[in-house]
Amino acid sequence: MPEITASVDQHPPLAALLPPGDSDRLCASLSVLLDSPVALQDPAGTVTGGTRGLAAEARVEIVCAGELVAYLQAPRARPAASQAAAAMIAQLLLATIEQQSAARAESEARYRALSEDFDARVATQVTLLDERQRQSYQAERLASVGALAAGVAHEINNPIAFVRSNLRTAETYLGKLTDLATSLKTLAGGDALLAADDIDFLLEDFAALLHDSIGGVDRVARIVSDLKGFSNVDKPQEDVVDLNELLASACRIAEKKLPAGAALHCELGVVKPFLCLPGHLAQALLAILNNAVQAIEGRGASGEVRVRSRFEGQEALIEVSDNGAGIEQSALSRVFDPFYTTRPVGKGTGLGLTMARDIVRAHGGEIRFDSVLDGGTTVTVSLPD
Ligand SMILES: Nc1ncnc2c1ncn2[C@@H]1O[C@H](COP(=O)(O)OP(=O)(O)O)[C@@H](O)[C@H]1O
Ligand SMILES: [Mg+2]
Repeated sequence: MPEITASVDQHPPLAALLPPGDSDRLCASLSVLLDSPVALQDPAGTVTGGTRGLAAEARVEIVCAGELVAYLQAPRARPAASQAAAAMIAQLLLATIEQQSAARAESEARYRALSEDFDARVATQVTLLDERQRQSYQAERLASVGALAAGVAHEINNPIAFVRSNLRTAETYLGKLTDLATSLKTLAGGDALLAADDIDFLLEDFAALLHDSIGGVDRVARIVSDLKGFSNVDKPQEDVVDLNELLASACRIAEKKLPAGAALHCELGVVKPFLCLPGHLAQALLAILNNAVQAIEGRGASGEVRVRSRFEGQEALIEVSDNGAGIEQSALSRVFDPFYTTRPVGKGTGLGLTMARDIVRAHGGEIRFDSVLDGGTTVTVSLPD
């Protein structure tokens, strides 16, 4: 902001303090009182009011706050009367100077306040623009990741389904072959025939291979289902639901994965019916619950997950807390980032919380993640009325 310097120690010119018309009127009154023609001059000797062409030597200084501001000419007046008149005019000019400087100070203050307000508004707008730009960048990034995920999920889904189905069929075929081998052993020479090619081992190992392969395919299917959830490829219908029912069903699913001895407490309070995409919201809640269950792995019987719901202000609040591992403070800002995971390869996709946040936001809500390393984690979802 430009600095405004008020010239307090330099008075404005005489013409500004006493405009010509006023100056003439003042001189006319003084001329009657002093019984002499009267003129006012500025410090440069220019007449600003009264009678022009008076003798220059008969003039008296008019000084305001130590500074010469004018001369009074009254050639026929008594010197004492001229002095008194000059003092009176000085008083008058001083009052005007003070008035003008107060008005100037006030307008300066107003200008400064306006300018500060303007600066603040510009700063707010710049922050807002910055934030919008980041949001649109983030949205664009998420949209392209989402489209990619949807495409990949779609492409992988079909082959996964038939590979899994074929592996299951192969398992039943293998069962039959094993039965055949058992029958062959009862025939003369059968046992030796089978032993020659180590068929027993082969059948056993084949079964183990198929079992492992089905496990692997299931894992891929899980990742694909996470990707599908993340990109919201399945578009279910909107419906009014009881949030507590949604929570209870998510709890039932998560409960199955609880480590032995650990507990999941559901404390469901009063919440209002909520218009939402139930499939999406359930998926978001399940992702949060799964994380809580994973966090208490290794805590044995002391592990605890607590799910609470209540209505507060104008919001439905859902809180999922665990007394598990927690995370470092430095990682807090990253948990919602797509693909951010601290789990071993094959165990996490890093999309659970990203998807949960997108879904909650799409419902006009917010999600918060608070965590203390070795102290546990609380995820709070707030949904509007
Ligand atoms: N309840 C929790 N306790 C501790 N860490 C958590 C919890 N929930 C999430 N996290 C951290 O956030 C990361 C991202 O979670 P998420 O998006 O669900 O992906 P994923 O579970 O596949 O790793 C996790 O890898 C973990 O480090
Ligand atoms: Mg997760």
